[in-house]
Amino acid sequence: MMTRDLTNLMAAAADIVRDAATIATEPPKDLTISTKAHRNDLVTAVDKAVEERIATRLAEIAPYPLLGEEGHDIDSFAGRVWVLDPIDGTLNYVETHRDYAISLALVEDGVPIAGLVYDVVASRMYEAIRGEGARVNGSLLPRLEPRHRDDIVVITDIKELDALPRLREIVTLSRGHRRYGSAALECIEVACGRAGAFVHLWVAPWDIAAAILVLTEVGARVSRIDGTPLDVRYKGSIVAAADPAHDEIIERLVRDAT
Ligand code: IPD
Ligand code: CA
Ligand code: CA
Repeated sequence: MMTRDLTNLMAAAADIVRDAATIATEPPKDLTISTKAHRNDLVTAVDKAVEERIATRLAEIAPYPLLGEEGHDIDSFAGRVWVLDPIDGTLNYVETHRDYAISLALVEDGVPIAGLVYDVVASRMYEAIRGEGARVNGSLLPRLEPRHRDDIVVITDIKELDALPRLREIVTLSRGHRRYGSAALECIEVACGRAGAFVHLWVAPWDIAAAILVLTEVGARVSRIDGTPLDVRYKGSIVAAADPAHDEIIERLVRDAT
């Protein structure tokens, strides 16, 4: 597929995502909230309806297999695959009513080639096509300026701080930490330069496949917590940061053991 075709496809996908977002903004009276792995791992009727609407409409325009968090599975990542998180930040959707996103990536042989992260409440569509840069509502995002570890805001959670004493040190020496509750939007904060790093121990393909492309298209570095490459097909940790903060964080976390 030519880049122009991919641009047109992602423009159509963005329309589908915006349309599906109206399910979240005009929800049914009964959200039918249920829990999954633990009491704060939620799914609602809206998550399922958004996934269903997007899956149905994508099948009409580009019927690649779809991996969706709420019920769509794939046999393999060979060729092109859609990867969808219908609501990233469901706890926010239910409790704080902001900072939730629809995340949709087109992944080819395991590598994201196009991605959309839609911040529903802010009405901001973040888009990236590999090699073409990243945009927000159509405007090109600038490449990130160099940032150092001690001069950045670090997005991470208490789980990570408890598990990684050296991350606690990094945060103590930094400008401070934040946590928004949507891994996709937390990556976007780094891609937009508002935060300097995002550290999370357990993200799934649908959380980050689209946002990673936005990050790399603005020059951010992304890896696992031990500095090894992040393969979006597998669940695991993520460190996303501007340069050289990324190396400086990995250095402190894994190499600089004393
Ligand atoms: C969750 C959010 C959250 C992250 C969790 C994810 P969900 O996704 O991204 O910020 O800490 O690991 O599972 O369940 O709201 O789609
Ligand atoms: Ca998610
Ligand atoms: Ca989700």
